Amino acid sequence: MMAEPRTRIDFTDPDVYVHGIPQEEFADARAHAPVCWVPQERGSAGFDDDGYWAVTRHADVMTVSRDSDTFSSREKTAIVRFGADMTQDRLEMQRYILLNMDPPQHTQHRAIVSRGFTPRAVTSLRAALQERAAQIVSSAADAGDFVNEIACELPLQAIAELLGVPQEDRHDVFNWSNAMIGQDDPEFSDGSDPIEPATSLLGYAMTMAEDRKTCPRDDIVTTLVNAEIGGEHLSSDEFGFFVLMLAVAGNETTRNAISHGMLAFMEHPEQWELYRSTRPRTAVDEVVRWGSPINAFQRTAKHDTVLNGQSIRAGQRVAMFYGSANYDENVFTDPHTFDITRSPNPHLGFGGSGAHFCLGANLARLEIDLIFNAIADQMPGITLAGSPARLRSGWINGIKHLPVRYR
Ligand code: HEM
Repeated sequence: MMAEPRTRIDFTDPDVYVHGIPQEEFADARAHAPVCWVPQERGSAGFDDDGYWAVTRHADVMTVSRDSDTFSSREKTAIVRFGADMTQDRLEMQRYILLNMDPPQHTQHRAIVSRGFTPRAVTSLRAALQERAAQIVSSAADAGDFVNEIACELPLQAIAELLGVPQEDRHDVFNWSNAMIGQDDPEFSDGSDPIEPATSLLGYAMTMAEDRKTCPRDDIVTTLVNAEIGGEHLSSDEFGFFVLMLAVAGNETTRNAISHGMLAFMEHPEQWELYRSTRPRTAVDEVVRWGSPINAFQRTAKHDTVLNGQSIRAGQRVAMFYGSANYDENVFTDPHTFDITRSPNPHLGFGGSGAHFCLGANLARLEIDLIFNAIADQMPGITLAGSPARLRSGWINGIKHLPVRYR
């Protein structure tokens, strides 16, 4: 028999996040129904089923992440609707995205780009990104929107550089990626089919591919164009969705980590003073834990199984809530305290150490480190100048605008 959840809140509903992570509801779920069934009207969330299992404890998120024999990534991984209804075509398209692959296909595809994201590869970008971070911070005026002026820029420039997107096209890529992710937010979506910006980005990726076939460069697009699996090049869909995923993953996550981190620092001035004077290396991971920029990813049970005493049937969706796991009182001392010296800090902001663990974690950590160092150097007195505007999304824990006084 299914355990009756104490909470009927749908943790994937964008409205649940209007004031940030729903801490009380997650705490209640962790305490009373850590693997709880959340009913949804069939098809209402874009999936052809009637609900999902919400996994809210750190240990259970780890179990699901690590066990790809039981919990498949083949479909329904992202909490995002590809239009009003998830047609078969759209389900098929999702399968070209690395996030939605299982081994051995996943292992082969990930290997194509993984060398570009190792600690050593990322360290080689440090000097250039450090200079870029200093420029971004110095070009801000006296006051403005921290998200648009600072948080967005370094992640955009970094992923665009790696992919090989020329400077003049970078903001197009940025806008398409925003429109895909912000489909539940009226500021980024005009209600049109979210497949449109994806189509634009895919078309753009194809023009880059054509260019690299004749003019190879030292960039990820060239690596993908030349890549072979079992003697075959990637198909144009495989190639296009690879670029799309890297562009979106590179843009939409680190920016929110930086914005949440800045907000946390402004709300905890003693932590900002501590950061400015000691620059602890532990600060970056506390920023990611605190902000938990991705609310959740999902898996699908391949066969009947039991998770933390709860029976799960084959084919049912299982959503891992990182924003809950990162505040699990069984793992973190005083989880609701923003403590930039926290150590150890086994947060799951980058996922739960399974095969899909964030490919860009080293890059994201470097970007966060560099931007806060630049802010601390140049803007010691940065303060909040209004209310933050949060992204309306059940998937990304985002801040759209953050009014600040820089100097
Ligand atoms: C996967 C979070 C930055 C690329 C993931 C996952 C999470 C995540 C939660 C899924 C893990 C799983 O399913 O087990 C974040 C956060 C970031 C960040 C919080 C910033 C603070 C980046 C950046 C890139 C990136 C800068 C650059 C390209 C990817 C890719 C995957 C991924 C390609 C899919 C990996 C796979 O399926 O094998 N990320 N990410 N991420 N991330 Fe990130």
